Amino acid sequence: MIKISLEVQNLKKLFSRRLIFKELDFSLNQSQSLIIAGKNGSGKSTLIKIIAGVLSHSGGNIRYIKEGKEIDKEKIFNFIGLVSPYLILYDEFTAKENLELFARIRGLKIETDLIDNLLNEIGLYDRRNDLLRTFSSGMKQRMKYASSILHNPLVLLIDEPTSNLDLLGKEFVQNLIQRYRKEKIVIVATNDREDYSFGDSVINLDDYK
Ligand SMILES: Nc1ncnc2c1ncn2[C@@H]1O[C@H](COP(=O)(O)OP(=O)(O)OP(=O)(O)O)[C@@H](O)[C@H]1O
Ligand SMILES: [Mg+2]
Repeated sequence: MIKISLEVQNLKKLFSRRLIFKELDFSLNQSQSLIIAGKNGSGKSTLIKIIAGVLSHSGGNIRYIKEGKEIDKEKIFNFIGLVSPYLILYDEFTAKENLELFARIRGLKIETDLIDNLLNEIGLYDRRNDLLRTFSSGMKQRMKYASSILHNPLVLLIDEPTSNLDLLGKEFVQNLIQRYRKEKIVIVATNDREDYSFGDSVINLDDYK
């Protein structure tokens, strides 16, 4: 198992002068998972984006440590898989082309087998050559999962894990998270108490104002 840890110390976020959260501290190792809770507007999506390295914070520290060495900020992207309502897929490309594009952006060798297997896993293999704009919202949510795990990330960040998903889709997510949380870091932001089973512990952002 690869050793990875995430350390968040005294983290603070402001948008202009509005405080979103402060004094946030936690650390996670491989095979630990965390739920981020809090009411609408409490900062869950903001925190996920900061942990993913796509949004800056206003104070405190975030460090990723792999096998005892801190990972450079620019390289964090290689270790992270992100599923989020803010993730953009390409409407004018097919399902397969979208995954090929994500693989290319990540500098992965495009292995048709890998992409076909993923499409199979998310139940969209039959629709692989259809344009994304013809997909339902649940089908798009499934595609976000496929794009986030292409590179077998060490850290999986999921904002609103089950939004738009039917029972089968939820089952897929459950299995995926069970698999990942055995060996990796998994962080899930959610408003849905049912999703709390995805984590070992819960942080409620309403307590960090
Ligand atoms: N780019 C931005 N500029 C200014 N304020 C922002 C920006 N993004 C988010 N906010 C503010 O930050 C706060 C937290 O938003 P965020 O989307 O993180 O909440 P959330 O907990 O994910 O809510 P929800 O449960 O509705 O998804 C809100 O007050 C929001 O208006
Ligand atoms: Mg949100």
